[in-house]
Amino acid sequence: MAIQKPRGTQDFLPAVIGNWRYIEAAIRKLCAAYGFEEIRTPIFEDTGLFLRGIGETTDVVQKEMYSFPTGDKKEQTYTLRPENTASAVRAYLENKVYGQESLTKWFYMGPMFRHDKPQAGRYRQFHQFGVEVLGTQAPSADADVILMALQLFSDLGLKDLSVQVNSVGCPNCRPAYRDKLIAFFEPKKDELCEDCQSRLYKNPMRILDCKEESCKALSVGAPEIHENLCEECATHFEQVKTLLTAADVNYTVNPRLVRGLDYYTKTAFEVQYAPLGSQSAIAGGGRYDGLVEELDGPHTPAVGFAMGIERVLLALEKQGLLPEPEVEPSVFVVALGEAAQLEGFKIVHALRHDYIKASMVGENKSMKSQLKHANKTHAKYVIILGDDELARGEAILRYMETSEQETVPLAEVKARITSLVKG
Ligand code: HAM
Repeated sequence: MAIQKPRGTQDFLPAVIGNWRYIEAAIRKLCAAYGFEEIRTPIFEDTGLFLRGIGETTDVVQKEMYSFPTGDKKEQTYTLRPENTASAVRAYLENKVYGQESLTKWFYMGPMFRHDKPQAGRYRQFHQFGVEVLGTQAPSADADVILMALQLFSDLGLKDLSVQVNSVGCPNCRPAYRDKLIAFFEPKKDELCEDCQSRLYKNPMRILDCKEESCKALSVGAPEIHENLCEECATHFEQVKTLLTAADVNYTVNPRLVRGLDYYTKTAFEVQYAPLGSQSAIAGGGRYDGLVEELDGPHTPAVGFAMGIERVLLALEKQGLLPEPEVEPSVFVVALGEAAQLEGFKIVHALRHDYIKASMVGENKSMKSQLKHANKTHAKYVIILGDDELARGEAILRYMETSEQETVPLAEVKARITSLVKG
């Protein structure tokens, strides 16, 4: 075949759409209980939003953005959204939501785009479910979003997940910590991987979660963030941990959890499912108290997370938790002869009008061939119409599960089926 889907994208055909619907239904139920309302923002935005929002030195911005000319102004580009937090904040500001409510709780689902090397669990177009809480610095909001993610995973039945939490500090305590990290890594600069060499002065905290074995070894003994937090960050982190412990969350504190987006302050967290290997993060998030201001809005503390739906599906598959396909009770009309075809056509449309799933072959094929179609559509009830039945003003109703049959007056077929399907 000449033209294929772009690398790192996937087609989701009807056989798997039930799995997506299943997760989406669980998400909607969860969001309703936690009081989150849905937003939908454009899948592309002004490139500047991500440069300022996510941070110019991040991998996402430096290597992974799909940018293209707007076609309006020279040199102005749009970018396919690599994530939705920056867009949510843009929408929050542009629609002046901060002036209308003191606390905003939004959720979203949709495709995101990152130009990375595709592998199992890492796609160039992937789908996230995410939540954003804007307008509170309460540690309970951090705990709430973590609990929300965990409730979703437990609702889906997922086991063997690990929860890692950290505090990445704030603009008060981070500069001094950065300096200490630079001082620590500078003498080893030449031994760091190429990426970390360029991170050293721009974003040295990222060296701490580099996946390269050599960088991991070099960072042993590096200054720890927890010993360098300001009082406010340290207290906030203690309170978040107290709440998580009170909610019986089995978490680990990972001082090296830095996350790949620059907007985080204080809490950062990830939920991992180790069997997914290098793409084990199924959800991640944290607090971003400076992002709204960074995008020219009023000071608005905020916290949120996003999960990768494909990765959750992979985890469900590995644990044998994908739902059984749902088969709606349906009706198939087998019509033998031209008059029967016309009568069948009328019955099918009358049933569909009442939102009962009904179909027929629509061509005058043999009984055997039409029944084959009925089986293929998993029909529960088959109405058989032949010339003899029509002449008597009757139809045969066949129950496919038991192969039992009964004769029903034509005029009563619709009512009979309706009562069987709708009860
Ligand atoms: P993130 O950690 O970049 O955070 O992405 C969140 C989740 O999206 C990851 O844990 C992973 O499950 C999934 N994901 C990311 N990249 C890919 C990919 N290439 N293929 C498949 N799945 C992927 C954010 O995006 C933040 N906006 C989360 C957030 C919301 N923080 C605060 N509010």
